[in-house]
Amino acid sequence: MKLTYYGHACFSVEINGKTLLFDPFISANELAKHIHVVEIKADYILLSHGHADHIMDCESIALRNGAKVICSWEIHEWLNAKGVTNTHPMNTGGKWTFDEFTVKCTVAQHSSSLPDGNYGGNPMGFIIYANGESFYYSGDTALTLDMQLIPLWANLKFAVLPLGDNFTMGIEDAIRAAQFTKTTNVLGVHYDTFGFIKIDHIDAVEAFRKENLELTLLAIGEQKDF
Ligand code: NI
Ligand code: MN
Repeated sequence: MKLTYYGHACFSVEINGKTLLFDPFISANELAKHIHVVEIKADYILLSHGHADHIMDCESIALRNGAKVICSWEIHEWLNAKGVTNTHPMNTGGKWTFDEFTVKCTVAQHSSSLPDGNYGGNPMGFIIYANGESFYYSGDTALTLDMQLIPLWANLKFAVLPLGDNFTMGIEDAIRAAQFTKTTNVLGVHYDTFGFIKIDHIDAVEAFRKENLELTLLAIGEQKDF
């Protein structure tokens, strides 16, 4: 599965000829000045929760591409009221099969308000299944025991986990999350963007390596085949 990293917790994955874009936050990311939102392609946009650093560029990308937005019921209603009507509402624990892939919404231990103060419903993570393979994006979350359920549902090829601490798991808990979900291949996200979440890249990769886990930290705009 070809993955492109757009900074913070935004990335896209190509599946069966379609582009799934996760948590678009590019235009206000000081580290992603070289990424142009108007050039981003998406057939589906998946939103883990309503915080601005996950949905800021959703509306413009969705409308320009005619992309379908997959999100909580509450964010779906909020987007519909703004004129973004190609949406698919879901909630924690639910699964749905689209034409090219299946999504299961997992528990995330976080909060989810929308930028205007509206309630965003439950924060979520996603397991994406396609062609006999699967991966997990946890969304913004603490380490939770619920992650131990994930191997019952999927044999993950890789997991996308936040590393920045302060607002989410930090490196130590992300290592435990990899162990709970039984994956050895982790893409780190949600680090370096703001002052509170800066990490030492070399230390992070080494901490994972000591547990026989492979941590990938991509440059913004970089691609990797998982
Ligand atoms: Ni958040
Ligand atoms: Mn966040």
